[in-house]
Amino acid sequence: MSVWAVLAAAGSGERLGADRPKAFVRLGDRVLLAESLERLDASEWIDEIVVAAPPGWEEPAILVAEEIGCSKVSACVAGGPSRGESVRNALAEVPDDAAVVVVHDAARPFVDDEVIGRVVGALNEGWDGAVPVLPVSDTVKRVDGDRVVETLRRDELRAVQTPQAFVASVLREAMAGEDVSAASDCASLVEARGGRVKAVPGDSRLAKVTDATDLERAASLL
Ligand code: CTP
Ligand code: MG
Repeated sequence: MSVWAVLAAAGSGERLGADRPKAFVRLGDRVLLAESLERLDASEWIDEIVVAAPPGWEEPAILVAEEIGCSKVSACVAGGPSRGESVRNALAEVPDDAAVVVVHDAARPFVDDEVIGRVVGALNEGWDGAVPVLPVSDTVKRVDGDRVVETLRRDELRAVQTPQAFVASVLREAMAGEDVSAASDCASLVEARGGRVKAVPGDSRLAKVTDATDLERAASLL
């Protein structure tokens, strides 16, 4: 059973506001991309990796992989204008006989084998997909402009992270022919088609680097 990882690293990092795409900003001695790539490469669960890089940054991404001695990177593709399109571009490089696809955001540097094991393990229980989640500590309300419309029941809400694992054929079908540009994660596309997605325990260390404060926090965790 082959498990492929898709690493979504093609975002521009607008909210971070650096002079280069987010995957290539410095985190400690290396670029942000190196952290998640090295961890996926070292994972006992992952066989092969496809990286979606910002258009024009495919070569630098391959150089990063070579520098850190990654042996599992099969392809590096140009991402699209949205995360969904970037993942779809990468998925095109995953062979038809792949059993499982694990999709991870390069913006979450500290992925580890325990959480990968939890999401992949759920597929062995018969789920179509699995996502790491954390409880939500803030009260969450739905708004229309600045008018509050509804207060959601917090005990039913979870904050969702990556890595997300899917039966490869299920993810492929969920992404084929759909408008994936508005989807903020892959699981939502699988859910929309009636796929069964399991919520497994996430990890606060998987927090996403979105702005400059997040980058500082990530650096402090190195
Ligand atoms: N991503 C991608 N292709 C895109 C947009 C996003 O592969 N066209 C990836 C990012 O590289 C990141 C993950 O999706 O690893 C989550 O996206 P986000 O944190 O929003 O990153 P950016 O889109 O780069 O940041 P911003 O929204 O601030 O521009
Ligand atoms: Mg974005």
